[in-house]
Amino acid sequence: MALVKNKYMIMLLSKEQKRHCKERLRLAAVWIFEKQKMSFIMQLNSENTDQPIGSSPNGSKPPVVGSMVILGDCVEVMKGFEDNQFDLAIVDPPYGIGMGNGAGETRGKLGRKKKDLYTPKAWDIKPPDKEYFEQLFRVSKNQIIWGGNYFTNHLPVSRGWIYWRKIMGGNYSDGELAWTSFDKILKEYTQRSEQGLHRFHPTQKPIKLYNFSFKYAGAIEGMKILDTHLGSGSSRIAADKAGLDFTGIEIDKEYFDLSEKRFKQYKSQLRIEGW
Ligand SMILES: C[S@@+](CC[C@H](N)C(=O)[O-])C[C@H]1O[C@@H](n2cnc3c(N)ncnc32)[C@H](O)[C@@H]1O
Repeated sequence: MALVKNKYMIMLLSKEQKRHCKERLRLAAVWIFEKQKMSFIMQLNSENTDQPIGSSPNGSKPPVVGSMVILGDCVEVMKGFEDNQFDLAIVDPPYGIGMGNGAGETRGKLGRKKKDLYTPKAWDIKPPDKEYFEQLFRVSKNQIIWGGNYFTNHLPVSRGWIYWRKIMGGNYSDGELAWTSFDKILKEYTQRSEQGLHRFHPTQKPIKLYNFSFKYAGAIEGMKILDTHLGSGSSRIAADKAGLDFTGIEIDKEYFDLSEKRFKQYKSQLRIEGW
């Protein structure tokens, strides 16, 4: 109706007024096109997992965030946390398949060499129990649980899974799965495992994988993150890079100390490539 009215009105205009109107319509069309192009580019950028996490709303100052790690049993530590204390728990508990003693690394020549790099440990004999999941769901609003396919008896149905494609080849598994509490479509992320100087844990996950996971969760600066199974501390470094408030728990003193050393190295070498 409004369009018909406008068309009728345009017919009543002088030649000069018509030309002016057309020019304004053209400019409006260009403006809409540019706006749509911009939002499309922003959407593309948000798919790029190496980009930083979304900043705090309304352009407000970034919040002051902490990074705290606790040496202890995560179930016992969680009992001291309040309900919903954390916005997101991103955890990687033992799957119960013997990865701690290098069992997952023994296939093939490369596996045997890699096994010698790590101190054999017994932490991956038993997966977490009912009490662990009760505490986890009590203290956090949302969860990303690596190895979720091993814990399906404790987890509700969800469509929001993350598939980490490791591109390892040979006898190694092609990837790992994380169950998430998000009602989102499954997403795949491809990233090689970290090797070299900063690797000391047999199941060390890449920092970039955590960054991807934070983005999947829609994390914004200042959000409170919990990792109940810190290991090498990749989650801690990713959280720090993203401006997230972090709490991590690790039961093994050797891993705890090594992850602390790694975090300090990262902090002192922020400008160096590779972090
Ligand atoms: C699968 S690894 C985590 C690896 C970590 N995502 C990384 O990127 O390095 C599991 C870790 O949980 C620790 N752990 C096992 N049981 C635990 C418990 N009850 N409380 C806290 N940490 C525990 C193990 O020592 C091990 O370092």
